[in-house]
Amino acid sequence: MTITNEEYWKIGRAAAGAVCVVAARDASDGTLVALTVSSFVTLSFEPPLVMFAIQHNASSYSAMVESKAFGVSLLNATQSDVAQQFASKGRQKTHGATFDFGHLLSVPLVPEALAQMECATNQVFRSGDHAIVVGLVEAARTAVGQPLLYFSRQFGTFTPL
Ligand SMILES: Cc1cc2nc3c(=O)[nH]c(=O)nc-3n(C[C@H](O)[C@H](O)[C@H](O)COP(=O)(O)O)c2cc1C
Repeated sequence: MTITNEEYWKIGRAAAGAVCVVAARDASDGTLVALTVSSFVTLSFEPPLVMFAIQHNASSYSAMVESKAFGVSLLNATQSDVAQQFASKGRQKTHGATFDFGHLLSVPLVPEALAQMECATNQVFRSGDHAIVVGLVEAARTAVGQPLLYFSRQFGTFTPL
């Protein structure tokens, strides 16, 4: 049995997720690439691995899957404008954007994010129309704050029951 596209999209809308920006330097020309993702997952404790999925038709796809290192910034509840900015398509979105650069791997990171991770690319799995990118977290910092979440096509934050 195969579900319809509409049924599949409904599942996607029902799954709330934390919002991150993943970013890297394109090894071919040194430019910065960045995109908003909600597919970030902490994958393994020992070693400390994280992962995200990137769609094949993203303009940053080749740069991201071929990059030796990438930054992950877990956005806070005040950063929905940052999420919107990096959810647009194309390289121009990083022009003039303000980034911190990791001290260890020099990867681009969003200032004031809830967490910033410097990751060395560990494995890339092609799966359906996405690739799963796994990174080894080599350095990280966290801040206190509320998370930015995405649910039913809207940004929001967390309310305890
Ligand atoms: C909240 C949110 C979550 C997203 N999650 C993902 C994701 O996990 N993987 C992905 O490939 N695109 C995701 N996107 C879409 C990309 O951000 C969007 O396609 C972007 O334009 C890709 O940039 P690029 O084409 O410049 O690479 C998400 C968008 C939003 C708004």
